[in-house]
Amino acid sequence: MKITIVGTGYVGLVTGTTFAEIGHDVLCIDNNAQKIEQLKKLEMPIYEDGLQEIVVRNVEAGRLHFSTSIEEGTDFSEVIFIAVGTPPGYKGEANMSYVESVGREVASHMTSYRLLVEKSTVIVNTNEQLKRSMNKYLKANIPFDIASNPEFLREGSAIKDAFNPDRIVVGVESEHAAALLRKIYEPIIKDSGCEYLQMNIASAELTKHASNSFLAMKISFVNAVSRICELTGADIGQVAHGMGLDKRIGEHFLNAGVGYGGSCFPKDVDAFVRMGDDLGYSLDILKQVQEINRAQKNHLMRKLQQELWVLEGKTVAVLGLAFKPGTDDIRESPSLYFVPQLLEAGSTLQLWDPIAADKFKELHADLDYRKDLMDCITDVDAVLILTDWPQIAELELGSVKKAMKCPIIIDGRNVFDPAAMKEHGFIYHSIGR
Ligand SMILES: NC(=O)c1ccc[n+]([C@@H]2O[C@H](COP(=O)([O-])OP(=O)(O)OC[C@H]3O[C@@H](n4cnc5c(N)ncnc54)[C@H](O)[C@@H]3O)[C@@H](O)[C@H]2O)c1
Repeated sequence: MKITIVGTGYVGLVTGTTFAEIGHDVLCIDNNAQKIEQLKKLEMPIYEDGLQEIVVRNVEAGRLHFSTSIEEGTDFSEVIFIAVGTPPGYKGEANMSYVESVGREVASHMTSYRLLVEKSTVIVNTNEQLKRSMNKYLKANIPFDIASNPEFLREGSAIKDAFNPDRIVVGVESEHAAALLRKIYEPIIKDSGCEYLQMNIASAELTKHASNSFLAMKISFVNAVSRICELTGADIGQVAHGMGLDKRIGEHFLNAGVGYGGSCFPKDVDAFVRMGDDLGYSLDILKQVQEINRAQKNHLMRKLQQELWVLEGKTVAVLGLAFKPGTDDIRESPSLYFVPQLLEAGSTLQLWDPIAADKFKELHADLDYRKDLMDCITDVDAVLILTDWPQIAELELGSVKKAMKCPIIIDGRNVFDPAAMKEHGFIYHSIGR
């Protein structure tokens, strides 16, 4: 089938590439001309393990194309996926301006039936707004459908997730839209054996925000328990393991740490809370989730401050700038909270991240970025771990101790075993242990 994807970012590029790989003919559109130029030259604008190889294979096979023109995308295919950003607005609400603008443009170019699929994360009943807006821009009385098909891939394992999703959720209101989407996904359903859930559009839209908010709640819950652990001598690792083996709870997303970040959880929880307020139902449970997440960063900062006493004039190695390992995405990353605060306090920073350093440089050009991990921790007064890149766990602790000026390690990801750290003579603080 021919498929258009509007928005060629983390979601749009991975989705478009996956569709091409299963045999569809895909046109990926983005209004960022530089991004499209890069892709035409087979250079990746984002880092995602295994992505480049599949992009190259499908471009060379003639199944994957790139363009900046929504008009071309509207002509190209009967099915148009919207995968543009839905960033937070001023009051935490989801900013729908990119989605709205794509709808308007598609409507103004349509000459026959089109199915617009919301792949972006949108608030419930966005489809109604989109329909109303598009109807105003149609040049004639041309039929169209809206469908919802929320995306659940995780950065860092996006390719694997796209081919082996836990489930595919589609929200439709016409048989034709249902048939088109089913046909698109049929190869993935067959190969992966995943559940294909068809529901009404509002339910599909809501499933995404409810899922992300629940996951954020799991993280904040375990972080809250970690604080009780610190006050009582319990170990959050052992507690979380004991909890997670209960199948009703499940072992995933029970890692205590510096808090959730990234381009999805913070903004999706904010948008969900805001939506509840607008609807007249206060999602107080999620307001606590937000508060615990904020407090967790402050808590880690306090640990560093208490050990160093004075931050001014101290050299701190910051390990990890990406919001999680396996990605170059720094959106809402904890590093964006700690780096400015430490700079303001007068600390000197040495920064390390194997993938995300270039993205971070776009915001903080003049800092001291180290390519080599051991080089980064040499002669520092303290190490602050913000991302659990596997390279950090592989460090040889004896050499680390020798390289540091003062052996303080503040570990926001519980990378090391506290007993081993004590044995090596580190002043070591982690979360909930
Ligand atoms: N990143 C994730 O892990 C993830 C996972 C699931 C869902 N989502 C959701 O998917 C959506 C996209 O997220 P993302 O991370 O891919 O964002 P992104 O910022 O990486 O990509 C969005 C792209 O859309 C383009 N764009 C914006 N307006 C446009 C327009 N009018 N015409 C053409 N292109 C336009 C931007 O230039 C950008 O390249 C969001 O709603 C997000 O919440 C993201």
